[in-house]
Parts: sequence; structure tokens; C-alpha cells
Amino acid sequence: MESGKKLSGTLVLAVFTATLGSLQYGYSLGVINAPQKVIERHYARSLGVLPQNFSRSLNSTEEAGSHPSVVMYWSLSVAIFSIGGVFSSFLVGFVGDLRGRVKGMLMVNVFAIAGGLLMGLARMGTPHLMVVSGRAVMGFYCGLSSGLVPMYIGEIAPMEYRGALGTLHQLAIVTGILISQVIGLDFLLGNDEMWPLLLGLSGAPAILQILLLPLCPESPRYLYIKMGKEEEARKCLKRFKGEYDPSKDIEEMKKEKEEAMKEAQVSIMKLVRSSVYRQQLLVAVVMHLSQQFSGINAIFYYSTTIFHNAGIAQPVYATIGVGVINTIFTMVSVVLVDRAGRRTLTLIGLGGMCCCAVTMSVGLIFQSTYAWMSYVSMSAIFLFVCFFETGPGPIPWFIVAELFSQGPRPAAIALAGFCNWTSNFIVGMFFPYVEALCGSYVFIIFAVILFGSTVFTYCRVPETKGKTFEEIAAEFHHRRHRPPPESNATTELEHLKSSTEA
Ligand code: GLC
Repeated sequence: MESGKKLSGTLVLAVFTATLGSLQYGYSLGVINAPQKVIERHYARSLGVLPQNFSRSLNSTEEAGSHPSVVMYWSLSVAIFSIGGVFSSFLVGFVGDLRGRVKGMLMVNVFAIAGGLLMGLARMGTPHLMVVSGRAVMGFYCGLSSGLVPMYIGEIAPMEYRGALGTLHQLAIVTGILISQVIGLDFLLGNDEMWPLLLGLSGAPAILQILLLPLCPESPRYLYIKMGKEEEARKCLKRFKGEYDPSKDIEEMKKEKEEAMKEAQVSIMKLVRSSVYRQQLLVAVVMHLSQQFSGINAIFYYSTTIFHNAGIAQPVYATIGVGVINTIFTMVSVVLVDRAGRRTLTLIGLGGMCCCAVTMSVGLIFQSTYAWMSYVSMSAIFLFVCFFETGPGPIPWFIVAELFSQGPRPAAIALAGFCNWTSNFIVGMFFPYVEALCGSYVFIIFAVILFGSTVFTYCRVPETKGKTFEEIAAEFHHRRHRPPPESNATTELEHLKSSTEA
């Protein structure tokens, strides 16, 4: 979207309102960490493993936490969140197209509130069952919102700010993680009395979002390209940008619509089968897989244990330190992403993370010989997170909306989200086992994956900064129709380079 006022109050309101969904996602990701021991005790009591008047001594806590049924219900409470997301991420395209992006975000809040209530009222029922079902419903909500939010923002953002506004989705996620880490401290809400409130608050931003969404205009691209409602699209464009002549924006959408008309509605199956979108799809899927298999959530889910093993005295505060660094560097990315570009930041981020993963391993391997090595591992963890937020964290979330035109966009976002949630689940579920198997060498696995991802990004990911959706589609069209035999790596790189400089 070219002309008119770039960042109007309505646009700011719309982006803020949408990212309340991302805040809930981040909060739900982080909230389960700190109160683990407290909640395990309540599970143990409701499962009959601990007597009703249990003592809070260290021994009774340890015993309760290691009882097989408690372990099972606790692991389920953690993992079921991602399973909810795996299923619902597939529905993102359907929900977004059903009544529009705004109404879609509005409708799915039912799940956020239901999930919040189930967890908030956990003590009134059987805590372990209430929390497990609440986390499942909340995960279902987050799978939907983690696709709908970037889709809406990507469609309403002016081209110059598409990266910065897209990164706000990630900024809200990391803010949610940080808030949950802080209020999860035992002297705040992470204690015996308050833990249901701590978990239940995951649904609170939904109430504010429900109040604000009716004030947000629908995506003009959805109205014009999907629904053919030109007048309404013009009105919404003016609401986003103030009084101006929207003809140029309409013209750009018209071209995209003409392209979209050549193909019928693109379903997920069609997208997977079609050779037309193969390049884009590969880039989108690999970027999401790289984000998760970088090992970032091994740090986020298990940082307290990792810091503990690295010999850090106050691991909980070190974890909060990670949350702070995480937030600061996402802000840096908001500023940089429309200047440095997506490709450059992803390359720097993945390359940097790879070096940090190697350093982390060296630190962990030698810490029993040299005590100071624990500081090496700790610094490497902090730097790992900084590099992640520079590019590999925020960019995959919004680049999918940039890589695809209106027709396949919802299906592509759904598929990329599905890959993200599935790999998130795999890392969360299996990291402790792999760590038990590989010991201090576990981060070498992530280093190898990160190296591969860096090479892939260098060879395959184009720059999308400052390009219209049409130009980005043309770039891939170009690649498909290049003569194959001579088009070796060098030509490919030259091609990528020229497109980056364009
Ligand atoms: C990204 C990832 C998410 C991770 C978060 C950490 O949003 O998708 O899984 O927990 O970054 O900041």
C-alpha cells in the first residue's frame, strides 16, 4: 500500500489489538515454567498421591513430583498446548477466509476465554484434568491466533513498515513470555494460593481484544481481492490512511486479483501438489523448521535446568534475564528489519546462533575441569537468544504472508504454522531425552542444524524488503523459468544478489 498517511492512529490501534493475540501466545508459552513444583503438589493431592493436608517440606515436594502419574499429567499439561496448536494451525486459512480477518480473530477468542476459565477455576474441579483441558483449548486458540495475526498485519501494513509491524507479533510474544516469567515468581503468583490465577490470566488479553476489535477496519486486501468489495476496500484504506486517493493501492490489488483469478481457490492440498508454489513453500517451511529446530525452545522450556546444570547460583533470575534480553533484541529487530532486510538478518541470526551453540557445548563439556567455563555457557546462551531475535525469531512469522499472493496466502500460513507447531512439540517433548542421551554434547545437534539452515538461507531465501507482493511473486516466477542446466549455484547466487540489491 503506497500513498496516504503511513502510520495513522487506526493502523496503530489495529496492530496493537491484533498483537494482543500474540501476547497471549507468549504468556501461555512461558507461564508453565516457574510454578512447576507448586502445581505438581496440587496434582499429587488430587491424584491421591499426597494426603490433603500435605506438608510443604522439600521431601514431600520431591516425592510428589517424581510419582509416575504426576509426571505423566505434568508432561501432558506442558505438551498438550502444542498439540492443540498443531491441530488448529491447519484451520487458519479457513477461519481467516470465513468472515474476514477481524471477525476471525474475534470469533476465536471464545477458545482463549474458555481455556483461561478452565485453568483459573482449576481448584474448583479436579486440578490436573482442568489444567490439561485448559492448556489444550488455549493451545488450540494460540495455533489460530499465531496465523491470523501475521496474516492481518501483513495485509494492512504499508510496504515500508511491513517488516517492523510484522515483527511486532514476535515482540508481543516475547513480552508475554517475560510477563509470565516475572509474575510466575513465587512471591507474586507462582505460589500455592495464586497459581490458578497465574494460569487463568492467559485468557485475560482476549477480553481487551474483544472490546477493541470492532473498532478495527477489515483488511482491504481481503475485501477487494477475496470478496470483490471495492467500495468497502476503499473505505477501509481511507480509515487506515486518512483522506487520500486510494486508486494506486486499488490498482496494485487489482493486479494481484487478476493473478489470483487465473487459479481457483488454493487449498492446502493443492498448494502442496502445485509446482507453481513449490519454491515459496520450501522457503516458508524451512524457515519455520529452522526457527524451531534451532533449539530456541530447548532454552525457553528448560533454561532453569540448563542454568542449574551450568552451575549458576540463581537459575530462575538467569531465566528472567534471558526473557529481558529476548525482548530487547526483538525491539532491535523492529528497528532494523526494514533497513537491513529479512535475508541479511536471518543469515546473521542463524550464523551467530550456530557459533553460540558450539561455544555453549564447549562451555558445558569443560565446566567440570574449569569452573569459569559456566560463565562461557551462560554468555553463549544469552548471545544465542540475541541472535535468534535479530532475525530467525520474528521473520518466519511474517515472511510467509510476503512470499505468497492473496490466493494461496491463507493455505501457506496454515501449512507453515503447522510445521512450526509440530516441530515446537517435537523439541519440547524430546529434548530432555536427547539431553539425557547426549549430555553436554546436546547443543552440537542444534549447531549442525543451524549450519544447514544458514546455507539454505544463503542459497534460497530472497530479499522481500521494499517489494510489492506482485514483485515477490514475479521473483519466484523468474526462478522457475530459468534454464536449468547452466543455472548452477553461481548463477543462482548472482540472481539472488541482484534481487537483493533491487
Ligand atoms: C518464536 C517461536 C516460539 C518461541 C519464541 C521465543 O515466536 O515461534 O516458539 O518460544 O519465538 O521468543
